[in-house]
Amino acid sequence: MLSIVVLISGSGSNLKALLEATENPLFGAKIVAVGSDNPADGLAHAERFGVPTFVVTPGAFNSREQWADVLLANIKHFKPDLVVLAGFMRILPPNFVRALSPNLINTHPSLLPAFPGAHAVRDALEARATTTGVTIHVVDEGVDTGPHIAQAEVQVQTDDNEHDLHERIKLVERELLVSTVKAIAAKTITL
Ligand code: GRF
Repeated sequence: MLSIVVLISGSGSNLKALLEATENPLFGAKIVAVGSDNPADGLAHAERFGVPTFVVTPGAFNSREQWADVLLANIKHFKPDLVVLAGFMRILPPNFVRALSPNLINTHPSLLPAFPGAHAVRDALEARATTTGVTIHVVDEGVDTGPHIAQAEVQVQTDDNEHDLHERIKLVERELLVSTVKAIAAKTITL
Protein backbone atom coordinates (compact mmCIF):
# COMPACT_ATOMS: atom_id res chain seq x y z
CA MET A 1 0.00 0.00 0.00
CA LEU A 2 1.51 3.32 -1.12
CA SER A 3 1.36 5.89 1.70
CA ILE A 4 0.84 9.50 0.72
CA VAL A 5 1.06 12.94 2.29
CA VAL A 6 -0.93 15.56 0.36
CA LEU A 7 -0.14 19.29 0.60
CA ILE A 8 -2.85 21.84 -0.22
CA SER A 9 -3.41 25.59 0.04
CA GLY A 10 -7.05 26.03 -0.91
CA SER A 11 -10.39 24.32 -1.35
CA GLY A 12 -8.88 20.86 -1.70
CA SER A 13 -11.15 19.41 -4.37
CA ASN A 14 -8.24 17.37 -5.74
CA LEU A 15 -7.53 16.14 -2.21
CA LYS A 16 -11.20 15.19 -1.82
CA ALA A 17 -11.07 13.16 -5.04
CA LEU A 18 -7.98 11.31 -3.77
CA LEU A 19 -9.56 10.68 -0.36
CA GLU A 20 -12.66 9.25 -2.04
CA ALA A 21 -10.52 7.04 -4.28
CA THR A 22 -8.70 5.60 -1.26
CA GLU A 23 -11.99 4.22 0.04
CA ASN A 24 -11.66 1.48 -2.59
CA PRO A 25 -9.11 -1.05 -1.29
CA LEU A 26 -8.13 -1.79 -4.90
CA PHE A 27 -6.81 1.78 -5.23
CA GLY A 28 -3.56 0.68 -3.62
CA ALA A 29 -2.76 3.93 -1.82
CA LYS A 30 -3.73 5.59 1.44
CA ILE A 31 -3.43 9.20 2.58
CA VAL A 32 -1.62 9.25 5.91
CA ALA A 33 -1.65 13.04 6.46
CA VAL A 34 -2.58 16.34 4.82
CA GLY A 35 -0.49 19.48 5.26
CA SER A 36 -1.04 23.12 4.37
CA ASP A 37 0.70 26.49 4.45
CA ASN A 38 -2.47 28.12 5.88
CA PRO A 39 -5.68 27.08 7.67
CA ALA A 40 -7.10 26.08 4.27
CA ASP A 41 -10.78 25.19 3.79
CA GLY A 42 -9.71 21.92 2.18
CA LEU A 43 -8.33 20.57 5.46
CA ALA A 44 -11.95 19.83 6.39
CA HIS A 45 -11.99 17.01 3.80
CA ALA A 46 -9.10 15.32 5.62
CA GLU A 47 -10.81 15.75 8.96
CA ARG A 48 -13.98 14.18 7.58
CA PHE A 49 -11.95 11.14 6.53
CA GLY A 50 -10.18 10.97 9.91
CA VAL A 51 -6.82 11.84 8.32
CA PRO A 52 -4.41 13.90 10.48
CA THR A 53 -3.57 17.42 9.32
CA PHE A 54 -0.80 19.92 9.95
CA VAL A 55 -0.39 23.62 9.11
CA VAL A 56 3.03 25.26 8.80
CA THR A 57 2.65 28.98 8.08
CA PRO A 58 5.62 30.71 6.40
CA GLY A 59 4.99 33.95 8.31
CA ALA A 60 6.07 32.25 11.52
CA PHE A 61 9.67 31.81 10.23
CA ASN A 62 12.59 34.07 9.36
CA SER A 63 13.27 32.41 6.02
CA ARG A 64 11.65 30.18 3.41
CA GLU A 65 14.32 27.56 4.15
CA GLN A 66 13.45 27.42 7.85
CA TRP A 67 9.76 27.17 7.02
CA ALA A 68 10.41 24.37 4.53
CA ASP A 69 12.57 22.46 7.04
CA VAL A 70 9.70 22.40 9.52
CA LEU A 71 7.24 21.46 6.78
CA LEU A 72 9.59 18.62 5.79
CA ALA A 73 9.91 17.42 9.38
CA ASN A 74 6.10 17.26 9.64
CA ILE A 75 5.92 15.26 6.40
CA LYS A 76 8.72 12.88 7.42
CA HIS A 77 6.94 12.13 10.68
CA PHE A 78 4.37 10.21 8.59
CA LYS A 79 7.05 8.36 6.55
CA PRO A 80 5.18 8.66 3.22
CA ASP A 81 6.24 6.89 0.03
CA LEU A 82 4.92 9.82 -2.01
CA VAL A 83 4.14 13.51 -1.45
CA VAL A 84 1.46 15.04 -3.67
CA LEU A 85 1.21 18.81 -4.14
CA ALA A 86 -2.50 19.25 -4.93
CA GLY A 87 -3.03 22.99 -5.24
CA PHE A 88 -0.13 23.84 -2.92
CA MET A 89 0.61 27.45 -3.87
CA ARG A 90 4.14 27.92 -2.48
CA ILE A 91 7.50 27.53 -4.15
CA LEU A 92 9.55 24.98 -2.26
CA PRO A 93 13.29 25.59 -1.75
CA PRO A 94 15.94 23.21 -3.14
CA ASN A 95 16.69 21.49 0.20
CA PHE A 96 13.03 20.43 0.48
CA VAL A 97 12.85 19.25 -3.12
CA ARG A 98 16.12 17.29 -2.88
CA ALA A 99 14.91 15.52 0.26
CA LEU A 100 11.80 14.14 -1.46
CA SER A 101 12.14 14.19 -5.26
CA PRO A 102 11.36 12.14 -7.34
CA ASN A 103 8.72 10.99 -4.85
CA LEU A 104 7.25 14.49 -4.95
CA ILE A 105 4.65 15.26 -7.61
CA ASN A 106 2.57 18.31 -8.48
CA THR A 107 -0.60 18.89 -10.43
CA HIS A 108 -0.67 22.04 -12.56
CA PRO A 109 -3.60 23.50 -14.54
CA SER A 110 -1.97 23.87 -17.97
CA LEU A 111 -0.24 21.80 -20.60
CA LEU A 112 3.30 22.43 -19.41
CA PRO A 113 5.72 23.77 -20.54
CA ALA A 114 3.03 26.29 -21.54
CA PHE A 115 1.87 28.62 -18.77
CA PRO A 116 3.91 27.69 -15.69
CA GLY A 117 3.43 29.62 -12.44
CA ALA A 118 0.56 30.65 -10.21
CA HIS A 119 -1.76 32.11 -12.90
CA ALA A 120 -1.77 29.35 -15.49
CA VAL A 121 -5.47 29.60 -16.36
CA ARG A 122 -5.46 33.41 -16.64
CA ASP A 123 -2.26 33.28 -18.71
CA ALA A 124 -3.79 30.73 -21.12
CA LEU A 125 -6.83 33.00 -21.63
CA GLU A 126 -4.67 36.09 -22.11
CA ALA A 127 -2.59 34.25 -24.70
CA ARG A 128 -5.84 33.25 -26.48
CA ALA A 129 -4.89 29.59 -26.29
CA THR A 130 -7.56 27.36 -27.82
CA THR A 131 -6.40 24.29 -25.91
CA THR A 132 -5.05 24.06 -22.39
CA GLY A 133 -5.27 21.32 -19.79
CA VAL A 134 -3.49 19.75 -16.89
CA THR A 135 -0.04 18.32 -16.26
CA ILE A 136 1.09 16.05 -13.46
CA HIS A 137 4.84 16.17 -13.04
CA VAL A 138 7.70 15.28 -10.76
CA VAL A 139 8.79 18.36 -8.82
CA ASP A 140 12.33 19.53 -9.46
CA GLU A 141 14.07 22.68 -8.27
CA GLY A 142 12.43 24.90 -10.91
CA VAL A 143 8.89 26.26 -11.03
CA ASP A 144 6.71 23.69 -12.85
CA THR A 145 9.73 22.41 -14.80
CA GLY A 146 10.03 18.78 -13.65
CA PRO A 147 9.54 15.69 -15.83
CA HIS A 148 5.94 15.15 -16.98
CA ILE A 149 4.09 12.04 -15.81
CA ALA A 150 0.66 12.62 -17.37
CA GLN A 151 -1.21 15.29 -19.32
CA ALA A 152 -4.81 15.82 -20.43
CA GLU A 153 -6.23 18.46 -22.74
CA VAL A 154 -9.16 20.81 -22.13
CA GLN A 155 -10.60 22.96 -24.93
CA VAL A 156 -10.96 26.68 -24.23
CA GLN A 157 -14.42 28.01 -25.12
CA THR A 158 -14.79 31.46 -26.65
CA ASP A 159 -16.86 32.78 -23.74
CA ASP A 160 -14.68 31.25 -21.00
CA ASN A 161 -13.67 33.35 -18.02
CA GLU A 162 -10.89 32.30 -15.64
CA HIS A 163 -13.26 30.73 -13.12
CA ASP A 164 -15.28 28.69 -15.62
CA LEU A 165 -12.21 27.44 -17.48
CA HIS A 166 -10.45 26.53 -14.23
CA GLU A 167 -13.50 24.59 -13.03
CA ARG A 168 -13.59 22.59 -16.31
CA ILE A 169 -9.84 21.95 -16.01
CA LYS A 170 -10.32 20.78 -12.42
CA LEU A 171 -12.90 18.18 -13.51
CA VAL A 172 -10.25 16.65 -15.76
CA GLU A 173 -7.47 17.27 -13.24
CA ARG A 174 -9.15 15.31 -10.45
CA GLU A 175 -9.59 12.25 -12.67
CA LEU A 176 -6.03 12.47 -13.98
CA LEU A 177 -4.57 12.85 -10.49
CA VAL A 178 -6.52 9.87 -9.17
CA SER A 179 -5.56 7.64 -12.13
CA THR A 180 -1.92 8.74 -11.95
CA VAL A 181 -1.62 8.03 -8.23
CA LYS A 182 -3.29 4.65 -8.81
CA ALA A 183 -0.72 3.87 -11.52
CA ILE A 184 2.15 4.92 -9.23
CA ALA A 185 0.76 2.64 -6.51
CA ALA A 186 0.47 -0.22 -9.02
CA LYS A 187 4.02 0.58 -10.25
CA THR A 188 2.84 0.94 -13.84
CA ILE A 189 4.31 4.44 -13.55
CA THR A 190 7.80 4.60 -12.07
CA LEU A 191 9.03 7.95 -10.84
C1 GRF B 1 -5.75 23.13 -9.03
O1 GRF B 1 -6.21 23.45 -10.33
C2 GRF B 1 -4.26 23.09 -8.97
O2 GRF B 1 -3.66 22.54 -10.10
C3 GRF B 1 -3.97 24.56 -8.89
O3 GRF B 1 -4.91 25.02 -7.94
C4 GRF B 1 -6.08 24.22 -8.04
C5 GRF B 1 -6.37 23.69 -6.67
O4 GRF B 1 -7.69 23.25 -6.57
N1 GRF B 1 -2.62 24.85 -8.62
P1 GRF B 1 -8.23 22.47 -5.29
O5 GRF B 1 -7.72 23.18 -4.05
O6 GRF B 1 -7.72 21.05 -5.37
O7 GRF B 1 -9.72 22.54 -5.41
